[in-house]
Amino acid sequence: MTLRARICALLDQNSHGHAARRVRTLEILLILIGILSVSAGTVDEVTPAARALAGSVTGIVAVLFFAEYLVRLWIAPENPLLHSATEARSRLRWVVSAEGVIDLLAVIPAVAAASGGARLGAESASVFILLWVLKLATHAPGVGMIARVFHNERSALGAAAALFAIVLFSAATIAHWLEAERQPEHFGSIPASLWWAVVTLTTTGYGDVVPQSALGRVIGGLVMLCGISVLALLAGILATGFAEEVRRREFVRIWDLVARVPFFADVGAIAISDIVGRLRSRSYPVGATVIRKGAAGDSMFFIVTGEAEVRIGARTRMLRDGDFFGEMALLDRKPRSADVVTVTPCTLLVLNVADFYQLAGQQPVLIAAIETEAKRRRGEDRGGAGTL
Ligand code: CMP
Repeated sequence: MTLRARICALLDQNSHGHAARRVRTLEILLILIGILSVSAGTVDEVTPAARALAGSVTGIVAVLFFAEYLVRLWIAPENPLLHSATEARSRLRWVVSAEGVIDLLAVIPAVAAASGGARLGAESASVFILLWVLKLATHAPGVGMIARVFHNERSALGAAAALFAIVLFSAATIAHWLEAERQPEHFGSIPASLWWAVVTLTTTGYGDVVPQSALGRVIGGLVMLCGISVLALLAGILATGFAEEVRRREFVRIWDLVARVPFFADVGAIAISDIVGRLRSRSYPVGATVIRKGAAGDSMFFIVTGEAEVRIGARTRMLRDGDFFGEMALLDRKPRSADVVTVTPCTLLVLNVADFYQLAGQQPVLIAAIETEAKRRRGEDRGGAGTL
C-alpha cells in the first residue's frame, strides 16, 4: 500500500478503523478549538493578552486546515468515488465537490490575510465561525445522516409541512375576520395576521400580538393545540427516520464484517441476513480482557481482525481472524472456562445469549458446527499440560 493510499484510508470519513477514528476526532477537536478561539476574540471583556493568544490559536488552526486542504488535494486520486481518467481530473472533481469547496472556503480568509501581510482582526476572523461550522457539518459523523433522513422521509415531512401550511393559513384568515376591526395594525390583512399565526402555531408565544375577542381567543387555543400536534408529528417522523437509518447503516457495516469471517462463508444469503441482524461489532485495544474465567457467559465472539489469547491456567491458545470464542459457557450453561485477552487490537462480532439460543432453533447447522469445535476444545483442555 502506497503512502498516499494509507493517508487516504486514514482520512476516509466512512472508515471504522482505530486510527481513522482518532484522526476524525482530532479534526473535530481542531474545528471546535478554532470556533472557540474566534468566539473568544470577539468578547470585549477578554484581556489583550488573552485576545492575542486567541488570535494566534485561530491562525494556527487556519494554517493546519490549509495543510489539510493540500493533503486532501494530493490524495484525491486514491478516492474511488472521485475516480477519473487522470489524477488531475480526480483532483478537480474533489475541488468542485461540496467538501472541497467548503474546505477551500474555510482557509481562503486566512490565506488572503497572510498573503496581504495583514493579521486577522477579531471581527474579520469571526467569518471563520460560519465557515468552520460548515466544515464541522461535512466532517462530523452523523451529519451526513441528517440529510439522508430528510431525503428518505421527504414524503412524510412534506405531508406534515402541508398540514402546517393549511392550519397556518386557516388560522391567519379566521383571525383576520375576527380581529381586523379591533386591531387593524396587527390583523388588518391576512399577511399581517400570519405573524400571529406562526408565533401561536409554533407555540413560541411572544405575546406581542394577542386576539382580544372571545372567539379569537378560542381560535388561538385551537391553533396552539394544532401546533403541538404538528410538531409532535414532525418529531415522530424524524425520530423514526433516524432509527431506521442507523439500523440500515449498522446492518450494512456488520454485513461487511460478517463477510470477512470464513465461518459464515457457506451460509446462504437469507440465513446471513438473519445472523447479521443479531450481531454487534466491538473494538478492543491490545491487552483487553474480553472474557474473564468464572464470569457468567452472556455472549460469544467472532474475531473479524486481530489476535486473542485463551488462558487456561498456565496454558495458552492463540485465536486469530475468523476464529470464535465464548461459546462453551453458552452451550454448557456454565461460567466461563478461561480468560480471553487480546494480543493485538481486535474487531469482534458479538452474539448475545438470547440471540444465540434463537439462532440455535433457526440455524441448527451453524450451531452444530460451533458445538463440534467446542467439543474438540473441551477434549483439548482436559488433555495434557503445556501450551495447547
Ligand atoms: P467460554 O468458556 O465461554 O469462555 C472462555 C473461552 O475460551 C471458551 O468459551 C472457549 O471459547 C475458549 N477456549 C477454551 N478452551 C479453548 C481451547 N482449547 N482452544 C480454543 N479456545 C478455547
